[in-house]
Amino acid sequence: MPIAVISVLVLQYENACAGKPERGEEMKPLPEPTTKGTMSVEEAIARRRSVRSFASDKLTDGQLSQLLWAAQGITDKGSELRAAPSAGATYPLEVYAVTQESICHYDPSRHELKAVKTGDLRGKLADAALGQGFIREAPLTIVFTAVPSRTTGTYGKRGDRYIHMEAGHAAQNVHLQAVALGLGSVPVGAFSDDEVAAVLGCSGKETPLYIVPVGKPL
Ligand SMILES: Cc1cc2nc3c(=O)[nH]c(=O)nc-3n(C[C@H](O)[C@H](O)[C@H](O)COP(=O)(O)O)c2cc1C
Repeated sequence: MPIAVISVLVLQYENACAGKPERGEEMKPLPEPTTKGTMSVEEAIARRRSVRSFASDKLTDGQLSQLLWAAQGITDKGSELRAAPSAGATYPLEVYAVTQESICHYDPSRHELKAVKTGDLRGKLADAALGQGFIREAPLTIVFTAVPSRTTGTYGKRGDRYIHMEAGHAAQNVHLQAVALGLGSVPVGAFSDDEVAAVLGCSGKETPLYIVPVGKPL
């Protein structure tokens, strides 16, 4: 088989494993994100604290849009560069939004969500994270996963290190955006990779990296 054909098949396979959505009825477009807020970046940094008690209030579509945009949204439409830096713009990260209703995959290019599972799976996600109960309560939990081959394909073994650095950049964007919206969040690194992958329904090509519950602080 020609190498070009194999490359296309591998790319299609990786995209499928990453749960990348095809346009369909389940797509939920998000409101356009804003780049104007009422809090300075300095104030957001100063105010950020890990929050582990959340009110049950659902987030608005506007808040959801803003948080996902901060995580991996497109900030340069021409080049499709994103809100968080990426080694060689290889963009290994995938983003999921876990809510009371569903688990959705975020498509940065379309700024849309696609439901990959329906129902309240927050309890199962909390179980997969050593029973950390606030994940059960948070109205939104953002889960970052990665398809490492996108980055290791260019950078070899060192790419694995870059992927973890990128997860930190993206998560910090979410933490600061949350503060600027009057919300709170906490980074969660203690979880079973296999169990989180099973809850999300992602394949072995995709590795869970970071969990960030978000909500109104109690
Ligand atoms: C990589 C990483 C993993 C973390 N994992 C967890 C976690 O699993 N559960 C948790 O409650 N907090 C977790 N935290 C949050 C830390 O406990 C918290 O950042 C630290 O206590 C400092 O408090 P602050 O975030 O309010 O400044 C994690 C933080 C980092 C950076």
